[in-house]
Amino acid sequence: MTALDWSHVFATRSERMRASEIRELLKLLDQPDIISFAGGIPDPALFPVEAIRDAQHAILSDPKQAAQALQYSISEGYLPLRRWIADLMGKNGVPCTPDNILITCGSQQGLDFLAKMLLSPGDTALVEAPTYLGALQAFNCYEPRYDRLIPDGGNVTPAAYAAAAEKAGGRVKFAYVVPDFANPTGITLSVENREKLLDLATELAIPVIEDSAYQALRFEGEAVPSILSLDVARNGGDIEKTRTVFCGTFSKTLVPALRIGWIVAATPLIQKLVLTKQAGDLHSSTLNQMVMARLAETTYDANVARAIALYRTRRDALMAALAASMPKGVEWTKPEGGLFTWVTLPDGIDGAELLARAIAEERVAFVPGKAFFATDAMANTIRLNFSSPTVEDIGEGIARLGRLIARMTP
Ligand SMILES: Cc1ncc(COP(=O)(O)O)c(C=O)c1O
Repeated sequence: MTALDWSHVFATRSERMRASEIRELLKLLDQPDIISFAGGIPDPALFPVEAIRDAQHAILSDPKQAAQALQYSISEGYLPLRRWIADLMGKNGVPCTPDNILITCGSQQGLDFLAKMLLSPGDTALVEAPTYLGALQAFNCYEPRYDRLIPDGGNVTPAAYAAAAEKAGGRVKFAYVVPDFANPTGITLSVENREKLLDLATELAIPVIEDSAYQALRFEGEAVPSILSLDVARNGGDIEKTRTVFCGTFSKTLVPALRIGWIVAATPLIQKLVLTKQAGDLHSSTLNQMVMARLAETTYDANVARAIALYRTRRDALMAALAASMPKGVEWTKPEGGLFTWVTLPDGIDGAELLARAIAEERVAFVPGKAFFATDAMANTIRLNFSSPTVEDIGEGIARLGRLIARMTP
């Protein structure tokens, strides 16, 4: 029997799901002599291992709680956890109830569900250039067209966005942003630009998807109100009148492996998303949600403080190393929080070519910038992560990279 030709049976939506060649290079990172700035993951030293063990033990030692934790549960999510999140949102200018909250399997699932709910093939998603690669991967399955979101409006009018979307056979359906210490740029959107984005979304009659993965990890400077809180304020404190969809996560503040994220929005959207959750995986793990509810109560604040202290030191080390080691013509962002900085290389140096040579010649790795663009790709960019390498490795790794860039600069 001949093997099935799978390409004949794949749906058109799978066509844009491809592994990248960068992945192949990044597979080499397990080699111990490579200093890697490629990751985007928390330092495992921050994981509250004992608190997780204690929480699991307490839940499973109590027959009533154990039965609940190991049973099927409602798609909306574990009520005490949603209450805790509603309280956190309230403290940050978003009065809401558990009915405004859906627990998701990481915020990544939230992005998938939102695209599933909002995008018909050919519709337009507005995304920044560059933006979070995982969001593009989630959105791609629903066959959108992308247009470049310029949060301060730039010189693109709402009418121009709408006309371009219509010409492509669809409508503009949402604007997606990572407003705080963005992945990949480390840049934070100013309050003025958040307001302008809301103006744009109002004119286009679309929602704003606010991906707040890094919001809690601010090392310095004034906190900027979330887009959802500004939207609530515009609407007399009533979340039901807002257009912003807030995606939160415990992955960067507590632990990613329990896979607990959340969406906060007006109830008509949440109710529809609950049906999507039901169809997708019924509910997030009850045991994990119950553990997370305990962690949130007992260790959230302390863990966020520890993460901020550790990552601030590493951000400082990276900024100092870049200043000391990068040749003229290289520029980088100065993040006030989060995990990343974004480096612009001299014209003519391609980030992917630099990665191949950096691994071969200097044993250093990072992510080339091109992967983060849906539109207007700039090849002369790279993303550096500072949550994983030690201070010592940051100095050594950046010295090596600076040396190589100097060799490649005409
Ligand atoms: C901007 C952004 N959004 C969402 C996610 C997904 O995180 P999780 O699904 O673990 O909540 C990430 C992960 O790196 C991210 O950087």
